[in-house]
Amino acid sequence: MRASFAALALLSTCGGERGPTSAAPAPVAAAESVPVIAVTDPKVSANAGCERCHAQIAAEWRTSLHAQSWNDPVFLSAYAIEPLSFCRSCHAPEAPLDDASSPARHLGVACITCHVPDGKSAGEHVTFASRAADAEGCASCHQFEFPEPQEAAMQSTVEEHAASPHSDETCGGCHMRARPGAKPHRDHSFRVWGDDKLLARSIAASARRGLERTVEISLSADGAGHAVPTGDMFRRLEVRATAGDGADALTAEPVTLARSFTRQRTEQGIRRIQVGDNRVPASGEPAIARLVFPRPVRRLPVRWEVVYRRMGPREAALFGVDLEAEAIVVAKGTLDPEPTP
Ligand code: HEC
Ligand code: HEC
Ligand code: HEC
Ligand code: HEC
Ligand code: HEC
Repeated sequence: MRASFAALALLSTCGGERGPTSAAPAPVAAAESVPVIAVTDPKVSANAGCERCHAQIAAEWRTSLHAQSWNDPVFLSAYAIEPLSFCRSCHAPEAPLDDASSPARHLGVACITCHVPDGKSAGEHVTFASRAADAEGCASCHQFEFPEPQEAAMQSTVEEHAASPHSDETCGGCHMRARPGAKPHRDHSFRVWGDDKLLARSIAASARRGLERTVEISLSADGAGHAVPTGDMFRRLEVRATAGDGADALTAEPVTLARSFTRQRTEQGIRRIQVGDNRVPASGEPAIARLVFPRPVRRLPVRWEVVYRRMGPREAALFGVDLEAEAIVVAKGTLDPEPTP
């Protein structure tokens, strides 16, 4: 199985001193024979060296999307549609750009990617300089244009960060929590999706009644250092509400806060052009989601919630992702009915 190959390669180079092995990377469909070169690939063995001596950090890293950035099934589905070396430059940065089958692609974003500066050898420990936890260190992958540049960036987390009231806090300050213990270190699992606590503190939300049929939810990016959601172009928040109970309950049309795109046919294929962005802005200014019910709801209690989603229904269908199973409620509340006069 292709996905287990990286783990095999690492195990065979690093002897018995490793920390716990992480869950195996998610399986992918295609089978692939293991090339002999795997164990002698210099990148793979250099990284196995880091992992051997820094077992705790390695165990965290192996659970991260960085370590899985090549084997991530959603990435692989998208890459199957657009197999560009452009994609590999971030999702498989240790593989040479002109070698799509290098075993080093399975390292994903590795120890050596962040810690061994260009032109230095991973063999000599003394040559390491930590890639700073500040925006500079993350910018090469978290701020970039579309393959055919347009007005909007494909991802703009670093620019958003610069516009945030939290810009004096480094990326690592929020994304690499201090782990005390015998070997104090910074957490290397870089977990967001799956870290319900971090997601829950990302926005502050409050609700008020509008006209007869409307409720307004105000959201601000209180605990994030960028827009919410940031990162991948399909991430979104869905704001939804119901009024009343049981069979008489009324449901408002949900409001989606996301970047929106139109599709344009070009000689190269389909191209997405960003035409809107109503996400919760980095600046701290509130975004207002106006929910409209089919009938007046002033005399009914209203329950509302804000749900974080990794992608929209169209992409979920394409990638085989069960959206309901992975929805995360990041804020919720109720509004009491207005008293009858
Ligand atoms: C032979 C064991 C060994 C190997 C192999 C090794 N390290 Fe280390 N490393 C250490 C020790 C010991 C320290 C001192 C701090 C500590 O105890 O964690 C250290 C410190 C570090 C630091 C902190 C440096 C600083 O200035 O604060 C980084 C970053 C680091 N290692 C990264 C790596 C990376 C990346 C690799 C693989 C390319 C690697 N290490 C391979 C043993 C090792
Ligand atoms: C996405 C980038 C990234 C990856 C991947 C990464 N690190 Fe780090 N690492 C950092 C940053 C940023 C720091 C904190 C630098 C600072 O603030 O001093 C750090 C800190 C460290 C330190 C110093 C102790 C600490 O935690 O502060 C060690 C040791 C280390 N990393 C080893 C590793 C090893 C081993 C791997 C692979 C298993 C790895 N790192 C993968 C970015 C990364
Ligand atoms: C070499 C490229 C690269 C560098 C450098 C890098 N990242 Fe990433 N990062 C990625 C990729 C690729 C993914 C997503 C992998 C996937 O989902 O397929 C990712 C995912 C993440 C996630 C997970 C988001 C989620 O949805 O859970 C966080 C958080 C993150 N990176 C933060 C950082 C920070 C902070 C730094 C700087 C210290 C950094 N990254 C440096 C490429 C990089
Ligand atoms: C003040 C704390 C804070 C700072 C500073 C911060 N983040 Fe975040 N980050 C968050 C929170 C909270 C979330 C979850 C909400 C969201 O997705 O925006 C998050 C989410 C993310 C995600 C996942 C987006 C997704 O939904 O897939 C990535 C990637 C990321 N941050 C990267 C970065 C990078 C790179 C920097 C620095 C340029 C940075 N963050 C600075 C708090 C912070
Ligand atoms: C400059 C770096 C960079 C390039 C180039 C890049 N990506 Fe990414 N990609 C990222 C980062 C960083 C993330 C994580 C952001 C987040 O978690 O929100 C990501 C996330 C993704 C995701 C979401 C994965 C998930 O689990 O939801 C998909 C799919 C993806 N990339 C596909 C691609 C494809 C296909 C290409 C080439 C057409 C590509 N990427 C090119 C950096 C890059």
